[in-house]
Amino acid sequence: MPESSPAGVESPDFSPAAHYDKVTDAWGLLLGDNLHYGVFEDPAEDLGPATDRLTSMMIERAQLASGLRVLDVGCGTGAPACRLVEDHDVEVLGITTSAVGVAAATARAAERGLPGATFEQRDGTANGLPDASFDRAWVMESSHLMTDRQGLLDECSRVLRPGGRIVLCDIIRRREIPFLELRDRRREFAILRAAYGAARMDTLEQYTAYATSAGLSDVQVLDVTAESLPTFDKWQANLDEHRDEVLAQLGQEGVEEFEESLDILRNFWVDGTLGYGLVWATKP
Ligand SMILES: C[S@@+](CC[C@H](N)C(=O)[O-])C[C@H]1O[C@@H](n2cnc3c(N)ncnc32)[C@H](O)[C@@H]1O
Repeated sequence: MPESSPAGVESPDFSPAAHYDKVTDAWGLLLGDNLHYGVFEDPAEDLGPATDRLTSMMIERAQLASGLRVLDVGCGTGAPACRLVEDHDVEVLGITTSAVGVAAATARAAERGLPGATFEQRDGTANGLPDASFDRAWVMESSHLMTDRQGLLDECSRVLRPGGRIVLCDIIRRREIPFLELRDRRREFAILRAAYGAARMDTLEQYTAYATSAGLSDVQVLDVTAESLPTFDKWQANLDEHRDEVLAQLGQEGVEEFEESLDILRNFWVDGTLGYGLVWATKP
């Protein structure tokens, strides 16, 4: 089982486990219960319905049915998993490398009386779960944090039963970033790393290639970059509303990095560098 906070001496630690242990409570205030982007029908819409819409788009593509067993890879604090169990009568095992996330998700499921939602500290790229033991793999905005992207898709494919489905959504890269541009924009990338932890964004074409080489078929993708853009304004509004509480949790530097990251991401979305997409496929 992975450690929640590796005992390395380097500081600061940008590993996803350490990062999520640190930011989970503050992100509840900034992002809401759902630790993911929104898909907006109208920029004036609230964040809650928009983050729920992204979950609904995943549910639609997952083709859920009563009694199915779902593996939620990178379960955050369990809001999507609880919704799946509550609304679709499925059984969900949520996994995350963050111990804080497991505790929060377990408490959420207990509070809502949902024994069908359970959570464990495991790594999505080496989950240790038996072959062919799930009907669905659900990977919601966690893959960008897993360096071994092919390993993630391979593991999801391995634990799926024949006829099972994987649904994934995440931040994507939408164009090549030449080395010189990477160098010139290194401060922006450093801010993003400080605010969100170590991450790497892939294109939808790369995700298609990972899924195909993991033995999955009927791979389909959808780009929702434009519809997700208002998310940054909503996170800014939440920061404005909860600044003192967030400051107490993240510190001055953490708040400044988060705030600056919003402008950087907004620019990346508008200039066609980064965006948001969904990927879904079937296990033959
Ligand atoms: C942006 S949050 C998304 C949470 C949740 N899926 C949601 O939509 O509310 C990313 C999640 O991925 C988890 N994560 C990061 N690296 C992981 C890994 N290697 N294995 C499993 N979970 C991981 C983090 O701890 C966090 O729970």
